[in-house]
Amino acid sequence: MSEPQTSSTQNDTNKAWSGRFSEPVSDLVKRYTASVFFDQRMWRQDIRGSLAHAAMLAKQGIIGENDLADIRRGMAQITQEIETGQFNWNLDDEDVHLNIEKRLTALVGDAGKRLHTGRSRNDQVATDIRLWLRDEIDLILERLLAYRQALLNLAEQHAATPMPGFTHLQVAQPITFGHHLLAYFEMASRDATRLQDCRARMNRLPLGSAALAGTSYPIDREFVARDLGFDGVCENSLDAVSDRDFAIEFCAAAALAMTHLSRLSEELILWMSPRIGFIDLADRFCTGSSIMPQKKNPDVPELARGKTGRVNGHLIGLLTLMKGQPLAYNKDNQEDKEPLFDTADTLRDTLTIFADMIGGIRVKADAMRAALKLGFATATDLADYLVKKGLPFRDAHEAVALAVRAAEQRGCDIADLSLADLQAFSPLITDDAFSVLTIEGSLASRNHIGGTAPEAVRAAIVRARAKLA
Ligand code: ARG
Repeated sequence: MSEPQTSSTQNDTNKAWSGRFSEPVSDLVKRYTASVFFDQRMWRQDIRGSLAHAAMLAKQGIIGENDLADIRRGMAQITQEIETGQFNWNLDDEDVHLNIEKRLTALVGDAGKRLHTGRSRNDQVATDIRLWLRDEIDLILERLLAYRQALLNLAEQHAATPMPGFTHLQVAQPITFGHHLLAYFEMASRDATRLQDCRARMNRLPLGSAALAGTSYPIDREFVARDLGFDGVCENSLDAVSDRDFAIEFCAAAALAMTHLSRLSEELILWMSPRIGFIDLADRFCTGSSIMPQKKNPDVPELARGKTGRVNGHLIGLLTLMKGQPLAYNKDNQEDKEPLFDTADTLRDTLTIFADMIGGIRVKADAMRAALKLGFATATDLADYLVKKGLPFRDAHEAVALAVRAAEQRGCDIADLSLADLQAFSPLITDDAFSVLTIEGSLASRNHIGGTAPEAVRAAIVRARAKLA
């Protein structure tokens, strides 16, 4: 997109609203109030909305068929000019709407001046943002799907790969790496439904509300709604021009999606630390250090974690933008776009990168298994074994805690203690205890929906794939 030009020599009486003003605004005020720097990225939606509005005006006999033809011809040329970088974005024309309308009038004359009949920039911008965000959500949902598929593929490869599950970042119980990844799949699936909900609520047409009160022309809002792919029209004109709930909802859904990606990032960073060494990320997602030759830094997950702060900030920014506004439109609303655009860009890019990065994770299964050994991860399994032999759970817990302490003192796992040693903690322990102390035995025993047994993980993947299809 090109930088908007300004010319102080330009006669400010050219402005769309200049008639009642006796003095021009200063260059600084011009820049301060303009939005064309950033809202030009909605140009396709602006033209699409204008064409639908013009078609409706012609159908209703509010403008002539020849005006409609002129408007279509002019908009086709403007589209081509913008696509090829020939369009001269002008700061004096404030925003994307006035820039396009001004050019249209220059190209086709009076028909261009008739386009704005029965319309205001207030309902125009509300329509443009909804169209823009709708496209953006569709793109993000596509990327989210690719990310979810990548998680499923890796989970499938590691449905039986044991790793320590943590609580309080202390080794808790054996889980499979596949099961761990499926937790992130669930989060991402909820993110997808949240975005779909937001899209469905947003998909109503504001046009026809004009500045705030509706319009006296015999318009057909349903026609425009159908043309633009909306599910219906906004019911109340005051609400339609001032509502930015959809932007807030989107940013909330995006902040939560980024929060999930940030949690995964934190784990990837920890797992890649040589002190843990569970995984390696592909080189293309990492960078080196300019001073320490040995370094391979997980920059992508670190940045994703960092960018989550920015996206969370945008949500608070938008809520704060709206909280003090009386009905209906206020210029404050122009501040909705930059946070919204940045949120969509950040989420979309992060998801795109993650889909690729997940596929390139190298899993170090030996390190995962070694960490399990160190952490007495099957202690709960021994306690459950004693319960099944009739001991109350609290007593079983205490007996195993003493066994863990003894193993810790000897620097070994409880599975490495002899039968005689174990029997000192409970005479109920017999030879068969050793099978529950194995990692594989522990994993296989948690075989139910939501459990970590390899069989349960594989079944969960099948169900997940069916949902994605
Ligand atoms: N650039 C404005 C915005 O982004 C468009 C609407 C301006 N409307 C007005 N009455 N000044 O909100």
